[in-house]
Amino acid sequence: MSTPSQPDPRADQASVSDEKLLAAHEPILGQQPDEKGKYRLLPLALLFIFSGMIFFGGTYLGRFSGWFDARVFNEYGTPPKAGAAAVPVDPVVAGKKLYAIPGACITCHQPNGAGLPGAFPTLVKSEWVTGSDERLVRIVLHGLTGPIKVAGVDFNSAMPGFGPGGGFNWSDDKIAAVLTYIRQEWGNQSGAISTDRVAAIRTKEAARKTPWTAAELEKLP
Ligand code: HEC
Repeated sequence: MSTPSQPDPRADQASVSDEKLLAAHEPILGQQPDEKGKYRLLPLALLFIFSGMIFFGGTYLGRFSGWFDARVFNEYGTPPKAGAAAVPVDPVVAGKKLYAIPGACITCHQPNGAGLPGAFPTLVKSEWVTGSDERLVRIVLHGLTGPIKVAGVDFNSAMPGFGPGGGFNWSDDKIAAVLTYIRQEWGNQSGAISTDRVAAIRTKEAARKTPWTAAELEKLP
């Protein structure tokens, strides 16, 4: 066996007594780091400053980012030609949405346009829908009441108007859209009704306050 070149320091410890150990540690006992020594709370003021910066940054992006849209940031994009016409709204698409608003046509005349027997007449292949626009526009502007025959079936009820004084108070283009829609849906094949047509009839009947009766409408072309 060879002797180690350095004497092992642990060999000394055998002779260290408990008293000596305690005495050696005594001077540094009071110097242990205390609980708060290393960890400090974030100063409240900094917290407010950071929150303020995050809030400002969010607001700034929201307002000025242009939603990072390519049309905003693409320097080489071609701008739309001045005076280019806006894409026209398809009245059938717009009319379908109007028809389906809760409380509007769909509630009574149903999603399939067939109405409910004994209560709401059908719009499918109805002579009132596919025929004279003079009559049809008036029905939706001011409403309809009293006996009416629709596709051979008798009804005697009432429908609210969607024009002036009605709960919906639809504009000319909305009425034109919904009527164009019902004239082309469910197999109906009648021509569109223009906003101008509705506007003209609205002006002509400006004094009308009460719903129409079928008898009155039948006198119209
Ligand atoms: C509150 C229920 C109700 C709503 C909403 C309603 N209708 Fe009617 N509609 C009726 C009733 C009831 C009649 C029949 C009235 C009568 O008996 O005189 C009728 C009649 C009609 C007629 C003539 C008869 C026929 O069936 O062709 C048309 C056209 C018509 N409605 C279209 C519409 C359109 C378009 C809308 C939505 C803009 C609409 N209605 C909303 C209840 C309603």
